Amino acid sequence: MESTRKQLIELLEKQEGYISGQQLSDSLQISRTAVWKHMNELKKDGYEIEAVQRKGYKIVSYPDKISTNTLQWGLDTKWMGQNLYHYDQVESTQQIVHEMAKQGMPHGTVVVADEQVRGKGRMARNWHSPKGKGIWMSILLRPNLPPIQAPQLTLMAATVLAKMISEESDLKPQIKWPNDLLVHHKKVSGILTEMQAEHDQIQYVVLGIGMNVNQDLSEIQQEISHKASSLKIESGSHWSIPKTIQSILRQFEITYDQYVKEGFQQVKKEWERYGYKIGEEVTISTMKKTWEATLIGIEPDGALKARDRSGNEEKLYSAEIHWGEGGYHA
Ligand code: BTN
Repeated sequence: MESTRKQLIELLEKQEGYISGQQLSDSLQISRTAVWKHMNELKKDGYEIEAVQRKGYKIVSYPDKISTNTLQWGLDTKWMGQNLYHYDQVESTQQIVHEMAKQGMPHGTVVVADEQVRGKGRMARNWHSPKGKGIWMSILLRPNLPPIQAPQLTLMAATVLAKMISEESDLKPQIKWPNDLLVHHKKVSGILTEMQAEHDQIQYVVLGIGMNVNQDLSEIQQEISHKASSLKIESGSHWSIPKTIQSILRQFEITYDQYVKEGFQQVKKEWERYGYKIGEEVTISTMKKTWEATLIGIEPDGALKARDRSGNEEKLYSAEIHWGEGGYHA
């Protein structure tokens, strides 16, 4: 049943214009009545489908309502999100995926929630995750990598999000080291990577993505409104959350598979292409000193590379960077 419906969506999506009931019934090897019944089910799930006599069917708009089904239908990935769970409300999707990982769930398992009441950000910060306004999602990865390479996965995920935003809109996203997604200098998305490792092998990684999608200006917490925003605010239009999740999952699978096959080089190139203030001078402070340096790129261990005015290069891991606009620090 489910897989017929998935194929039905795929056929409707592939077709430019209308596809006839007969064509659908032939391709799916089900009766015309069964096609019609599936169409009604899709409508119940929020798909708007136009049916025109002698022409056939066409999807006019996609549901905005998230469910495991709406997220998986039409998702043309091999492994990413093929095992997917949707919840209305959770404490944190990270916590759920950690439990699933311990139960042996497969690589590419995805958990999405409409709302998190205890969303976790980096450095033990809270992550505000209001109902239906954004993407609150954690992905289970089981890479065959040593723990030292884990930061590369986070950098890779940031390029995935940047690519998705540029492909789905006219926005020009940037990645602020290590992994904040900015649009017009404001943060719209963040990534939290947590790992379980033993000896020289990663057992699993829980990669959490928080993306502010459809908040209006008044819905951004006041204390961070100078440095945080949403895709809707910056693009001026509403984004379909299920479609956006599917685009992330699709792009993630392509980029991850390429990374596993070819290594970090392509991720580094992409990251630097989107890198915020790469090639520009910023002020850097550590416990010991404050200096001016030009940011020049990232290193395979996730460090940010900077060159001071005398030409000395330094790898930064936890320095405070004075980014200028927005006053937002890593
Ligand atoms: C950051 O501080 O920039 C990272 C934010 C990561 C938030 C996401 S939302 C989905 C997942 N579940 C959580 O509790 N946190 C991550």
